[in-house]
Amino acid sequence: MNKQEQLKHQVALAALEYFDDYDMVVGIGTGSTVNCLIDVLPQVKSRIDSCVSSSIETTRRLKEHGFHVKELNQTGPLSLYIDGADECDTHNRLIKGGGGALTREKIIAAASDKFVCIVDESKMIKILGSFPLPVEVIPMAQSHVARALVKLGGQPELRQGFITDNGNIIIDVHNLKIIDPLKIESQINDIAGVVCNGIFAYQKAYVTLIASKNGIKIQN
Ligand code: 5RP
Repeated sequence: MNKQEQLKHQVALAALEYFDDYDMVVGIGTGSTVNCLIDVLPQVKSRIDSCVSSSIETTRRLKEHGFHVKELNQTGPLSLYIDGADECDTHNRLIKGGGGALTREKIIAAASDKFVCIVDESKMIKILGSFPLPVEVIPMAQSHVARALVKLGGQPELRQGFITDNGNIIIDVHNLKIIDPLKIESQINDIAGVVCNGIFAYQKAYVTLIASKNGIKIQN
């Protein structure tokens, strides 16, 4: 394991503290940090009734580890959702979607009481926007949405060869200064053809666990 993999493993272990009940139905995100979580999840298996998954890949991994995966429509609200992020600011506002699962991730975050975000320290930033902002778009709206994103000050780039689990495309927006995340999240959502964007300001994390060489920091 290299250093970053070790940090992801440590923060995944720290997240197990939040499995504090029995028969829990938990939301599970997508990405390499969450993959570390799924690998250690059997340690709290007795507390988990089932999982709601944010992607086909996460579903595959959960089933491989013997977990029961349910549809969100079967479960009602969830008490806990755990996921990673591409960027996190000091207010637990995030950029997500590097893995392209942002829409399902935002839905599960919205349906959960507590969104626990797990990151290593490389994800922490002062102002969101260094990481290109993923925007999920209905394919026929690609050009229209790209023009609207340019008007907002960004440089849109189609994610080549990538189709989301929902059958849509991803436009990654470079050089967007996200000074007011709530405002830009709404403005992008208002563009016709946008399904979802990767700013999680309305659905910010309840708490972020940050792994560094000095241990785990809890950011409320
Ligand atoms: C996937 C995501 C991931 O949470 C994000 O990309 C972080 O992934 P990783 O843990 O691999 O750095 O939003 O859509």
